[in-house]
Amino acid sequence: PYMREVSGVRVLEDRLREKLKLKSVIVVPGDSDESEWVKEEMGKACVTYLQSISRPGQTLAVTGGTTMASVASRMTPSAGMEDWLFVPARGGLGERVEHQANTICVEMAKKAMGNYRLLYVPDPISEESYQNIIEEPSVKDVLGIIRSSDIVIHGLGDALTMANRRKTPDDQLAVIKERQAVGEAFGYYFSQSGEVVHKVRTVGLQLEDLEGDREVIAVAGGSSKADAISSYFQPGKSSVLITDEGAAKELIRDT
Ligand code: BG6
Repeated sequence: PYMREVSGVRVLEDRLREKLKLKSVIVVPGDSDESEWVKEEMGKACVTYLQSISRPGQTLAVTGGTTMASVASRMTPSAGMEDWLFVPARGGLGERVEHQANTICVEMAKKAMGNYRLLYVPDPISEESYQNIIEEPSVKDVLGIIRSSDIVIHGLGDALTMANRRKTPDDQLAVIKERQAVGEAFGYYFSQSGEVVHKVRTVGLQLEDLEGDREVIAVAGGSSKADAISSYFQPGKSSVLITDEGAAKELIRDT
C-alpha cells in the first residue's frame, strides 16, 4: 500500500508541475489541514531539497508562518551548509513571535550551523518612518543581503486567514474582501487571476526582487490552500513548490 501511495504522489507531482509550469514540484502524502504531521513532512521535504541544491557560502531568505517553522524544526547540519547566511525575507507582518521570520531564521541558522542577520523594524510602519528606516545603515546593510539572497523559501496563505491572523485594520480588511483576494505571500494579497490587490507595508523582499535566476521555493499545503496556491502561481513567481496531497488533488481537479 505504501508503494501505491508513493506512485500516486509522483503522478500528482508531474501533473502539477505541468499545470503550474514550474521547475519542480514535491508532493508529500496526506493533507495538512487534517493532520499536523503532514506539515512536518513538508518541512522535511524542504530541508532535503535545500541540501540537494546547497553550495558553500549561499544566502537564504525565509518568511514567517507555521509551515516555515516546520522547515526550521526539521533543519539539520549538512555538508556545504555550514557557512550559509540566513536572513528574514521581510520585517514583521503581524505574526506572533514564534512564527515571525526573525525567530524562524535564527532557529534555521543554528540548526544548520550557519550564521544569521536579523531585521528589527516596527510593524506596522508609517510611510514616513519607512522612508527613514530603510536609510539606517544597519537596516540598509541587511536589506542588501536579503535582496541579493541566492535562495528564498516562503509560505503561502489563504487571504482572509492571513488578514485575520495579522489583525489587519478594518479599512484594509474591507479592501481585501472587496477586491476578492484569495491568496497571500510576502505580505502581498492576490486575486484569483494573480493580480496584487493589496500589500502590507514593511521592509525587506519585494515581489519584483523574486525575478532573476535565484531559487524561490514555496512551501504550502492543505486542501484549504489550493485557491491561494493557484492565485500566487498565476504570475509564476517561484520555481519550486513543496506541497501535500490534499492541496495537489484540489489543484488539478479541473484539468
Ligand atoms: C506568514 C508569511 O508568516 O506565513 C505569509 O508572511 C504566509 O506570507 C504565511 O502566507 C503562511 O503561514 P502558514 O502558517 O499557513 O504556513
